[in-house]
Amino acid sequence: MEFRDVVKKFGDNTVLNDLNFTVAKGERVTLIGPSGSGKTTILRLVMTLEELTGGYVFVGGDPLQYEDRGGKRQRVPDKVRRRTTTQIGMVFQHFNLFPNMSVLENIIEAPLHVMGLSKAEAIPKAEALLEKVGMADKRDFNPSQLSGGQQQRVAIARALAMDPEVLLLDEVTSALDPELVGEVLTVLKDIAEETDISMLIVTHEMQFARDVSDRVMMFDEGRIVEEGAPEKIFSSPESQRTQDFLRAVL
Ligand SMILES: Nc1ncnc2c1ncn2[C@@H]1O[C@H](COP(=O)(O)OP(=O)(O)OP(=O)(O)O)[C@@H](O)[C@H]1O
Ligand SMILES: [Mg+2]
Repeated sequence: MEFRDVVKKFGDNTVLNDLNFTVAKGERVTLIGPSGSGKTTILRLVMTLEELTGGYVFVGGDPLQYEDRGGKRQRVPDKVRRRTTTQIGMVFQHFNLFPNMSVLENIIEAPLHVMGLSKAEAIPKAEALLEKVGMADKRDFNPSQLSGGQQQRVAIARALAMDPEVLLLDEVTSALDPELVGEVLTVLKDIAEETDISMLIVTHEMQFARDVSDRVMMFDEGRIVEEGAPEKIFSSPESQRTQDFLRAVL
């Protein structure tokens, strides 16, 4: 995944200012930084839930929203956008499960209707994913019958059901009661160990960031202030801004 010269404005509020970074295949990158610094906006741009103001985003080499055609920045056609975004899975802070569908139906929905799998293909795959997130016994439950941590594990299984190249995680534990955080982070650590899905993670769980990340990017006012291996960022950050931020959150 690559951000090249990305600019994002909301009205005259410039949220991202000429942002450049790449996430390699299989790499796990965590974004940290103060509230309002643009972390969610970055993930929403990758999901094409927000439109780029300037620059380019690539996933697997494919331009996501805009491309350079003969020296001109052109909008990528919707059909191509939709195909490229199927490579990307996202899990949100609020689980956003379909409330009127069972756990199993939530997971097979996109494989059936976007990937075009048959039920005979989609159901065993969904069951294997439910097994992986420890939710096999809840396959016929409705989301309202589950705890927050259970719903979030279903949301993770749902994102994985599309075989994404890239998984985006936006504060997936911050709406949970403290005793439910661990079970969700354990599932994510297992996925990080067992797959080579690239991950771009926004989290306030600094221990999790330390455990799972290859690289941490400290973000402030739309720019990368500092980046590096988690040991370096958390143990000996160079920038005053990072030091202040970590002192406040740890
Ligand atoms: N739809 C929108 N319309 C207008 N402004 C927006 C919109 N979405 C985000 N913003 C602004 O963009 C800036 C960055 O917001 P963003 O949600 O990306 O921050 P964040 O780093 O995820 O913060 P937090 O840690 O609180 O989740 C904020 O100033 C916010 O007000
Ligand atoms: Mg956010």
